Amino acid sequence: MSETRRKTRSSIWYGGRGKSAFMHRSWMKNQGFPDDSFDGRPVIGICNTWSELTPCNAHFRDLAERIKRGVLEAGGFPVEFPVLSVSESQFRPTAMLFRNLAAMDVEETIRAAPLDGVVLMCGCDKTTPSLMMGAASCDLPTIVVSGGPMLNGRLRGTQIGSGTAVWKLFEDRKAGLIGDDMMDEAEQGQSRSPGFCMTMGTASTMASLVEALGAALPENAAIPAVDSRRNKLAQLSGRRIVEMVELDQRLSKVLTREAFENAIRANGAIGGSTNAVIHLIALARRIGVDLTLDDWDRLGRDVPTLVDLMPSGRFLMEDFYYAGGLPVVLRRLGENGLLHRDAETVNGRSIWENVRDADCWNEEVIRPWNNPLTQQGGLAILRGNLAPRGAVLKPSAASPELFSHRGRAVVFDSIEEYHARIASPALDIDASSIMVLRNCGPKGYPGMAEVGNMGLPPKLIEQGVRDMVRISDARMSGTAYGTVVLHVAPEAADGGPLALVREGDFIELDVAGRRLHLDVPDEELERRRAQWVAPDLIGVSAWRRIYRDHVTQADEGCDLDLHPGRRDLEVPRPSH
Ligand code: FES
Repeated sequence: MSETRRKTRSSIWYGGRGKSAFMHRSWMKNQGFPDDSFDGRPVIGICNTWSELTPCNAHFRDLAERIKRGVLEAGGFPVEFPVLSVSESQFRPTAMLFRNLAAMDVEETIRAAPLDGVVLMCGCDKTTPSLMMGAASCDLPTIVVSGGPMLNGRLRGTQIGSGTAVWKLFEDRKAGLIGDDMMDEAEQGQSRSPGFCMTMGTASTMASLVEALGAALPENAAIPAVDSRRNKLAQLSGRRIVEMVELDQRLSKVLTREAFENAIRANGAIGGSTNAVIHLIALARRIGVDLTLDDWDRLGRDVPTLVDLMPSGRFLMEDFYYAGGLPVVLRRLGENGLLHRDAETVNGRSIWENVRDADCWNEEVIRPWNNPLTQQGGLAILRGNLAPRGAVLKPSAASPELFSHRGRAVVFDSIEEYHARIASPALDIDASSIMVLRNCGPKGYPGMAEVGNMGLPPKLIEQGVRDMVRISDARMSGTAYGTVVLHVAPEAADGGPLALVREGDFIELDVAGRRLHLDVPDEELERRRAQWVAPDLIGVSAWRRIYRDHVTQADEGCDLDLHPGRRDLEVPRPSH
């Protein structure tokens, strides 16, 4: 037994001839593990988010076996464990309500169990941030294996993208352009294989940012879920985590300030999801890096969007992989002074060593630096009397002609009110109006649903209107698009100024000036504030009460305010 092995955390459970060690080993042996499984070799937890309710992760049972194969080859002892699998497509009221609960599940399992290193099996949107947040609080050696994207969607000879197609198809059906037969074909053709949404939505974004952070092996983001190379990457990750334990390469060595800055710039270059802002801030706080909304604006401002993927562009994740994937994007950032080249990654090499030779095989999909999809790919962080703590807009998914806009507010107090009124011919609204949706933030919904990109009024769609300014304290799906101001903080249900807007008020949006202004005198706003009554926030379960009472606002990552941040793993007291 080597010196390294005698020092493993798991040997506190399994080493020696005492009563506790006997019991820990004995119960595990009911699964047939041989004696040498407990000889001090690294015990690797494989944190699996497989669930039939999370179709994006439906292939994770097999993928976990590939990881185990790698762990065994490298001399480790793999132990698979389930955690709450947060399903974007199936969970109501919104998957985001459960991100922090899953993170808690991950953290407490790692703390309680005899683990020396962890492989995080991430896929569907929230499964990436939740697993990473939980692992960050523990700071063991950790590597991410993403599940990979679905095959490209197909419909009548064209490619259709997850989510993005839904918004477009339903707008076309509202406008009377297509019928149910086409919708039925689309329903099947959009989702043709296991894997996460194959647009540059939140799942693809987070898988890409994991790679940019250096927390996964190169190419992790884009290999399709059903491509044999995904299995190979899983096996290699299994081998590598054992080495990481032996080298004590903890997550905090990878998730540095420089790594987060690389990820923010990568997000601009891929045209990534607005949800990444919330998830990265939450993750950074867990690991002890002070990341703010202003970092997002400052670092992303000069980053061109190179990747021509839906919802901002034309292609899909399969195309991205065949064009060279994220390594090409990181190489281009590095060649243009926008990458911290020395940032350490999980394979022990610097990020630059990993990507400097990456070749691009399709410059339509990954555009050259001097011919980007959009010049300003970063996210715009807006402030003003309507969003004192910030709001987010994705310029690459918005309409440039609306970047400087003044319009009359049409206000919806809830998503239910929006649905009740939006189709009414009597709705007093035109293309220059600004739609305001409130009480959809972290506390108000609860969970900050992806309803910020509310559909346009049918009567305006029929007139050919395809975009309008929309403002809310909600989020929007990473697969969605439009001139949509999101994450207004503080939220209306927490007393933010969004609660004070009245129908007919004028609002000014100035993207270049990063300004969001409610054109109402301060005295009038004070008068309205005095009359404002906080909504009655119901919590129908213990978790929802905890969430409502402790969730932070979007600018702080919507984590619970109870989290103390990263803490070294103490050795738990014996249970027997
Ligand atoms: Fe799972 Fe989109 S619904 S990634």
